[in-house]
Amino acid sequence: MKKEYTRKIKPNDTYRPLFHLTAPFGWINDPNGFSYYKDKYHLFYQYNPKGEKWGVMHWGHAESSDLVNWKNLGIALYPDTRYDNFLGCFSGSAIEKDGSLYLMYTGVPFLSQIQLLAVSEDGVNFTKESKPVIGSSKRPPHSGKFAFRDPKILKHNDTFYSVIGASYNKGRQIALYKSKDLRNWFFISPIKLESIKTKGIFECPDLVLTDTDDILIYSIMNTETDGIRYQNIHSSVYELGKADLDNGSFTPKNEPLEFDAGSDFYAPQTTTLPDGRTLLVAWMQMWFRKIPTSYLSHGFAGMMTIPREISVSNNKLIQKPAREVLSSFPSCTFSLSEFVSEEKVLPVAHPGAHMIKISSNFDSSFTLHIHKGDACYTEIKYNNGFLSFNRELSGHYISGSKLCGNPNIRQMEIPPSSNLDLLVFTDKSSIEIFANNTQTMSNTIYPFPDSNNISISSEEGAEITLEFYPFIKTPSI
Ligand code: FRU
Repeated sequence: MKKEYTRKIKPNDTYRPLFHLTAPFGWINDPNGFSYYKDKYHLFYQYNPKGEKWGVMHWGHAESSDLVNWKNLGIALYPDTRYDNFLGCFSGSAIEKDGSLYLMYTGVPFLSQIQLLAVSEDGVNFTKESKPVIGSSKRPPHSGKFAFRDPKILKHNDTFYSVIGASYNKGRQIALYKSKDLRNWFFISPIKLESIKTKGIFECPDLVLTDTDDILIYSIMNTETDGIRYQNIHSSVYELGKADLDNGSFTPKNEPLEFDAGSDFYAPQTTTLPDGRTLLVAWMQMWFRKIPTSYLSHGFAGMMTIPREISVSNNKLIQKPAREVLSSFPSCTFSLSEFVSEEKVLPVAHPGAHMIKISSNFDSSFTLHIHKGDACYTEIKYNNGFLSFNRELSGHYISGSKLCGNPNIRQMEIPPSSNLDLLVFTDKSSIEIFANNTQTMSNTIYPFPDSNNISISSEEGAEITLEFYPFIKTPSI
């Protein structure tokens, strides 16, 4: 029988997103166990059901048939054994084997991090294995007891592999393990190693194998700011290259590149579907921030990004919104294709959730204001290859740790191309931008009530095509 936590206070849903996953109440961080099992998408998450701040971790669980409507399935993992009862059940992943769904995750007993396994026959109730599958004695060489976490499983031919973040003396590594049965794991080698002194480890590693380049994904703690890049305290990155699973190596073709240029994107995790697509979802939030739904006591904090389809083409990472998500924006209810200069308020009803498509010449400039009211607006500005996002005046203020720059202004450079094509997804408390199907910027916002206008302008004047698609909630299946 599942133990459920109840709350006396009903959450305030003013900022509850319409097409992003949140927990019914409490705090969430990293996506975990993203998988497709028994014809449903499953998404678990780091969860503190007892408050709107990080605490001893559980795994919350939701399922969906369309990646838009998420059904809450309660708590999948509780911190209730001697292997996880200090700080809880940390991040991990899921994989199907012989019809069962396996979760591999990090347990945090007192002053240690070890890898554990739980199994389910129905995708809802999980039974924990009695012993760790990778205990302290099987840690990667040179790793510390308290920095070994976030196993991500993948399958290649008949073998399972797991990439796990760990320290390496004073530096850090991504360790590769292999197993035939998910229970007996053997260390192969680090596939990524930084032996210089670092502040923190690589968190939540992931490895996607494709027919062209493989993709190594990880989140770096305490990233150093580099011009307009790496403006958050921790950042998620990817490298394209070739994985050699037998010998345990990854040969990158490029320096690590920031996955998303926004203020709210961390710990992404992928799953590869039976139809061959790879979907990715990330925590749309950032460590060391004051989150309005938490300080306004709305009863919940944190959400996931919309799932993205990722792939590699011509040495480039392609990122597109999942097609299931796109089908929730079925009809264009307003469009313009004209020379824009003076500010123009779009004549659209604004249900708080919509998608805007904008196309212009690459060397043009324009400004889009979203969730605009008397006292607030969020600004997206494009100027000849630079896209910027400003939420200084968006609504309830988001302050952040002094360790990273201004949490409210972000910029990204877009490589020259003939056109600029933007997809802008707005929900009640977030804006995600996809530029030319490659780069993205994800940000949360907490607009004041009645700030429902959208406007477009261009100081220099620009030929712009804009289409507006309201979000239409389809009934849950
Ligand atoms: C990343 C992370 C993981 C860890 C989890 C704890 O955001 O720090 O490394 O497993 O969060 O909640």
